[in-house]
Amino acid sequence: MADLEVLGIAGSLRAGSYNRALLRAAGEVAPAGMSIRAWDGLRDVPPYDGDVEARGLPAAVEAMHAALRGAGALLVVTPEYNHSLPGVLKNAIDWASRPAGKSSLAGKVAAIAGASPGPMGTVRAQMDLRRTLATAGAFVVPAPEVLVANASQKFDADGRLVDEATRRYLGKLLAALASWHGRLEAGA
Ligand SMILES: Cc1cc2nc3c(=O)[nH]c(=O)nc-3n(C[C@H](O)[C@H](O)[C@H](O)COP(=O)(O)O)c2cc1C
Repeated sequence: MADLEVLGIAGSLRAGSYNRALLRAAGEVAPAGMSIRAWDGLRDVPPYDGDVEARGLPAAVEAMHAALRGAGALLVVTPEYNHSLPGVLKNAIDWASRPAGKSSLAGKVAAIAGASPGPMGTVRAQMDLRRTLATAGAFVVPAPEVLVANASQKFDADGRLVDEATRRYLGKLLAALASWHGRLEAGA
């Protein structure tokens, strides 16, 4: 299989984020032929404003569009805030979907995952993330679901994912991402 360059997007800005740690772990368990590059532009994306859009896309949004368009596939990891995805991530997806008809997510294959210290493992956030990405034109890998609950027990003090079952699920998700990417590229 040809090399697949995956853009990794974590929906948390905090340095000690479980979700950023999950993204780092994805790089460790990715199948042969896949590389994962973490996107670090989320903090720079301004709040969506239709008046700003009408004047021309901000540089940070243009940079995000370029990063998305240049990626072979996406891995989006999300925290859960109030049973949904964080506003900063939703805001970035909103910009990515603009201008209308020119979404840089259109046709992209995206895997999703998420980690929470709580018992639900971001399941509600992922339902909303799945819907939002699909609305913006992405194909969201249907399974497996990677719901990292009780995250404080799954990562060590250095932010390394040490739970073997979670590492296996994450690897399976990335294998599914590669498989769906190949199938869709081939028009199958
Ligand atoms: C505004 C806010 C709302 C939250 N709501 C939820 C929630 O609905 N469900 C949940 O499991 N955790 C919730 N949490 C806790 C987050 O899961 C926790 O802060 C987590 O560490 C955030 O992800 P991160 O470690 O990647 O930054 C919330 C946290 C914040 C700041």
